[in-house]
Amino acid sequence: MNSSMISIHEIATSVSEAIETRHSIREYLPDSVPDEILQKVFHKALRTPSWKNSQPWKIHIVSGEKRNQLSKELVKAAYESTPRPETNWPESYPSDAKKRMFDLGMKIYEMAGIERKDKEARNQFMLRNFEFFGAPTAVFITSKFDLNYYVGIDLGCFLQSVLLLAREEGLGTCAQAALSSFPDVVKNSLGLPTEEKVILGLSIGYPKPDSNLNRFHTPRESAEELIRFY
Ligand SMILES: Cc1cc2nc3c(=O)[nH]c(=O)nc-3n(C[C@H](O)[C@H](O)[C@H](O)COP(=O)(O)O)c2cc1C
Repeated sequence: MNSSMISIHEIATSVSEAIETRHSIREYLPDSVPDEILQKVFHKALRTPSWKNSQPWKIHIVSGEKRNQLSKELVKAAYESTPRPETNWPESYPSDAKKRMFDLGMKIYEMAGIERKDKEARNQFMLRNFEFFGAPTAVFITSKFDLNYYVGIDLGCFLQSVLLLAREEGLGTCAQAALSSFPDVVKNSLGLPTEEKVILGLSIGYPKPDSNLNRFHTPRESAEELIRFY
């Protein structure tokens, strides 16, 4: 199956199609996602495997007025302060990864029509993270577990389940570490206990069809480079 054969606006009918056609969506239609569709996605995702079946996740699905209010509070926090994640954001990367990350940023700005040197426009675009890129629903993945490598793997597996199941419902998604920037704001808004850590968020909704930004597919390193058979 060639990923060019099916678009993000169609429903993926196999795991292969979902993997090949999923990409991050950063412009959405305002149309809300019916509750039963969200329930289908997240209930199925609970089948995700985890270390000794520990299931370190809690999922908070935020739509409507609550979503709008939380978005406002997150944008305000981003204007007034710097990120204060409780998840140890990584600080160093190998040089080849740094290049991929730089290229990603440049390409996204180009697709969004933002001049590389226009710092204000870049900042404004960054703030779109906290508007959930216009998606009608935001999701926060939290955990009460002590964070370690394997909890991270479990949560990553959960995330991928959600991203792929969303494709099966014709939905677009964008995983967002940015949504862990202000955990206190999220906890206050959703009434979560202090010990529940805000690990990651994602935007979910119907992709805007005529969006230049959504047309962008990130490249991958070659299989020859990354996979070795013995
Ligand atoms: C753990 C994780 C955190 C991410 N955080 C953000 C984010 O904060 N903002 C954003 O726009 N994209 C974010 N992304 C999306 C990545 O940039 C994207 O998955 C990557 O560039 C590959 O592109 P693709 O998803 O279109 O295939 C995140 C992805 C993952 C898996």
